[in-house]
Amino acid sequence: MERKRLAQTSPAASAAKDKIPQLCFSHDGSGEKNTAKRIAVLFGGCSPEYHVSLQSAYAVISHMNTQKYIPILIGITRQGEWYLFCGDREEILSDTWHHPDFCVPVAVSPSRLEHALLCCRDDEIGRIPIDAAFPVLHGKNGEDGTVQGIFELAGIPIIGCGVLSSALCMDKDRAHSLVKAAGITVPRSCALKKSTDAQTALSSAEGIGYPLFVKPAKAGSSFGITKVSDHSALPDAVKLAFAYDDTVILEENIDGFEVGCAVMGNDALTVGEVDEIELAGGFLDHKEKYSLKTSAIHVPARISLEKREQIRLTAQRIYRILDCRGFARVDMFLSASGEIVFNEVNTIPGFTAHSRFPDMLKAVGIPFEQMVETVIEQALKA
Ligand SMILES: Nc1ncnc2c1ncn2[C@@H]1O[C@H](COP(=O)(O)OP(=O)(O)O)[C@@H](O)[C@H]1O
Ligand SMILES: [Mg+2]
Repeated sequence: MERKRLAQTSPAASAAKDKIPQLCFSHDGSGEKNTAKRIAVLFGGCSPEYHVSLQSAYAVISHMNTQKYIPILIGITRQGEWYLFCGDREEILSDTWHHPDFCVPVAVSPSRLEHALLCCRDDEIGRIPIDAAFPVLHGKNGEDGTVQGIFELAGIPIIGCGVLSSALCMDKDRAHSLVKAAGITVPRSCALKKSTDAQTALSSAEGIGYPLFVKPAKAGSSFGITKVSDHSALPDAVKLAFAYDDTVILEENIDGFEVGCAVMGNDALTVGEVDEIELAGGFLDHKEKYSLKTSAIHVPARISLEKREQIRLTAQRIYRILDCRGFARVDMFLSASGEIVFNEVNTIPGFTAHSRFPDMLKAVGIPFEQMVETVIEQALKA
């Protein structure tokens, strides 16, 4: 039914594609007069977190002030193809956006003089000028500095973290090393490579002690993570983690609970409320993260004001140590003994209507629309 609907070129679909010439420079290069800033919003992505990105991008687009900003939508398929998407944003949410009626291939011009997207327009290359790029992509090939590199090369402002911080924060092992070197507690851990033999992995695990966490060094949304309670489950957990990355970390289990803090800004920072994840058992695995069936998120965290302040200060320090810009969500544990232990930084945290990052900012009086405007303006000013 759905396929049939999409297979026919509906009037809505033709109208969608008719928008393309309006977005492009006219042939004489004069362009249109609208002073609203053109923001390329990237969604989807060649990542296991493709689906979450669709929801995050939908929320970002829905909360953009269209008097000030023209969202120019770039959909990236699971296979990594880039398209200018001209259809209705509901097609993003329902994952029906990727259809020839709504899409034309697009690329970023590497020229620092152009600040433009290149798209196929009839038999010519059309140029769509953009003022900034907002990658709303999660995980590999989107949150890890690769996409940021394309825009940095082209001299186009990026809304959010740049190449270095994106790459560092995506790599849990290297992020831990830097944060630890600055004197902040991190869980004890060791990194395994594919060439590490099973016996070495087992003795490293013994050194850390069970239960422990086995994680891909570079992944997200809890993909490939297992909490291992004894040595018999270690080989399968390591194998699963290696399916997501070529480095795997064995990490000490931190008794206590996870807390997070939203941070926005470049020089002066705006810090959200601290939240707390209450688990019924186990850990925040992929299913639980997006269903919250047995766990709950509390904003603010149910801890003393003094402890929340300490967590907010630690989050800001970590943000700076890892060279973050724009925005990021800093996740930590509050251990059973009251110690703040670094977990990870999400440089493009979930932005869905139920996500933690916008909720933490809402709790300090910053609604979603204002958050989107703030991060865009910061990037345009930088
Ligand atoms: N060292 C740890 N101690 C206790 N729980 C952990 C630890 N590491 C991860 N977890 C649990 O696993 C979840 C996912 O791990 P995390 O490192 O945050 O990966 P991701 O990038 O996939 O979110 C966390 O939200 C937490 O519930
Ligand atoms: Mg996490």
